[in-house]
Amino acid sequence: MTSKEIRQSFIDFFKKYDHKFVPSSSVVPFDDPTLLFTNAGMNQFKNIFLGIEKRDYTRAANTQKCIRVSGKHNDLEEVGKDTYHHTFFEMLGNWSFGDYYKKEAIAWAWELLTDVWKLPKDKLYATVFREDDEAYELWKQVTDIDPSHISRFDEKDNFWEMGEVGPCGPCSEIHIDLGPDACDKKHVEGHVCAVNGGCARYIELWNLVFIQYNRENDGSLIELPSKHVDTGMGFERIVAVMQNVGSNYDTDLFTPILAKISELSGKAYHDGNEGMAHRVIADHVRALTFAIADGALPSNEGRGYVLRRILRRAARYARTLELHEPVIYKLVPTIVEIMGDAFPEIKEKHQYISMVIKSEEESFGHTLDRGIDLFEKLVAEYKAKGVNQISGEDAFRLYDTYGFPMDLTRLMAEEKNMTIDEAGFEREMELQRERARKAGKWDYGLDVNWDEWTKVSDGKDSEFVGYDALESDATIRLFKKEMEHVYLVLDKTPFYAESGGQVGDVGEIQGDGFVLSVENTVKQGEKIVHIAKGDFPNSVKNPTVRARVKRDQRMSTARNHTATHLLQAALRQVLGSHVHQSGSLVTPFRLRFDLTHFERISPHHRRPPRGLHHTDALSPSPLRPH
Ligand code: SER
Repeated sequence: MTSKEIRQSFIDFFKKYDHKFVPSSSVVPFDDPTLLFTNAGMNQFKNIFLGIEKRDYTRAANTQKCIRVSGKHNDLEEVGKDTYHHTFFEMLGNWSFGDYYKKEAIAWAWELLTDVWKLPKDKLYATVFREDDEAYELWKQVTDIDPSHISRFDEKDNFWEMGEVGPCGPCSEIHIDLGPDACDKKHVEGHVCAVNGGCARYIELWNLVFIQYNRENDGSLIELPSKHVDTGMGFERIVAVMQNVGSNYDTDLFTPILAKISELSGKAYHDGNEGMAHRVIADHVRALTFAIADGALPSNEGRGYVLRRILRRAARYARTLELHEPVIYKLVPTIVEIMGDAFPEIKEKHQYISMVIKSEEESFGHTLDRGIDLFEKLVAEYKAKGVNQISGEDAFRLYDTYGFPMDLTRLMAEEKNMTIDEAGFEREMELQRERARKAGKWDYGLDVNWDEWTKVSDGKDSEFVGYDALESDATIRLFKKEMEHVYLVLDKTPFYAESGGQVGDVGEIQGDGFVLSVENTVKQGEKIVHIAKGDFPNSVKNPTVRARVKRDQRMSTARNHTATHLLQAALRQVLGSHVHQSGSLVTPFRLRFDLTHFERISPHHRRPPRGLHHTDALSPSPLRPH
């Protein structure tokens, strides 16, 4: 079966059992500016599980676009090394919202795998949560699985949670035995192939989650008003199994992309290490295509920064195939051919996606070439001296002057059997922050001698949690009162601190007997300082507070941030591809975009100029939203 047929047959199977096909939600969570990327099928159904939202169906089936590159499990640097890590993947799922439960979920999963898709029953294994006798018995009753193939596991493997908080519950997984040849840990002493045994011989195909609890902020579990089913089957993997190929990259989801890369580079694809560059580019261009189609753009912050890192990593690998001109954007039509029917958004926006990728490749390309040159020279000098560690200063120069992401430098060093003085690099970063402070970024007249601050509690501080939540419990670490202001440092905070021309968050911090209004949030070294007003006690007895970011303001800032990208794209179309951002300011109320162009921009500008130099800097006056 082709990947298209497999996807369709999954949907059709569940339609037969009265499931409604629900299109994938955006990979950029549109109603939650703080969540980086959609990372599970359940994101769009979360409020139904929590009983906050109702829909006109109680059974659903879908294929969800997911990106998992950030947060706890950052696998970006693994992608391409092996044949099964991905930044972007699809997840097939069937869902019950207070409708059917374990029995049907198990029976249907078995029927689809063994009856419809004809996978060999004797190669399939089921796992259940340690205490879940009900699921254990159901596997025996409603399927004809070999009873010796059912086993129990702990929370780590068989209790699914979407994050620190949120809907969760025990799960039951189906694994397949791909045979002894598939094991990739043969060389590891004492390794025994087993289900959940950590090698590639037994792999998980499908996760059936029985959602019945919500994990609260304080870590407790509360029973949900109804019970639900959330299943997830990694699409690339099931396609590899069904097409009987050794790796996801050998399925028809990837082979056309790899072939195109070979055509463009004149270098054939290989399964082993030599194929790494092909795999990195093929994987990354999928993530870029879908993320850009759904409205994300490369930038210096948050989600955009993740995209930029993905793109730069792909661009850097393209160099190893001797591709020095922008090339990643040329793969977009191939992805549209493979997946455009299932996801029409990439078909509709293919030109725009290509344009964004190309312009980012162009601007990074020059830097990359100069940086690689410099890096090679450095390595030669080091090697001549017999030194195997790149100094913090040099790594910092690559970062600061040439825009090299640190993981890129690390990777390049690793390839030369060298390491980087990470502590030295951190010191350089700190010195730079110091310079920025001296340059007057800190204009609140605040004395930042921390010794003069009042210490309220001990421990780490300033963990930023604002990509996942706009509200959080927190503990005051330090404070300082000065004139009408009170400055607070918390253990963790959802408040985004001013940086890169984007203003800091405003909101509220509520504690035992006081409510402060936060007027701005700034960074001071590694610390996030909340600048607030309000009655605040001179000594704090209870350090626990609730920190709330003002949602409207954050949303407006996010929109203006997006608008700077739209403006840049428009300017490039009208004025030419030399237009780059040389500075910008993003606030909830306005944005400013600085650019370099060779002449005054007139309202009648139409056509891109040719062969002209940019000389004068020009800052358009602030734009105000209507
Ligand atoms: N929510 C589960 C997962 O992401 C099953 O869909 O694995």
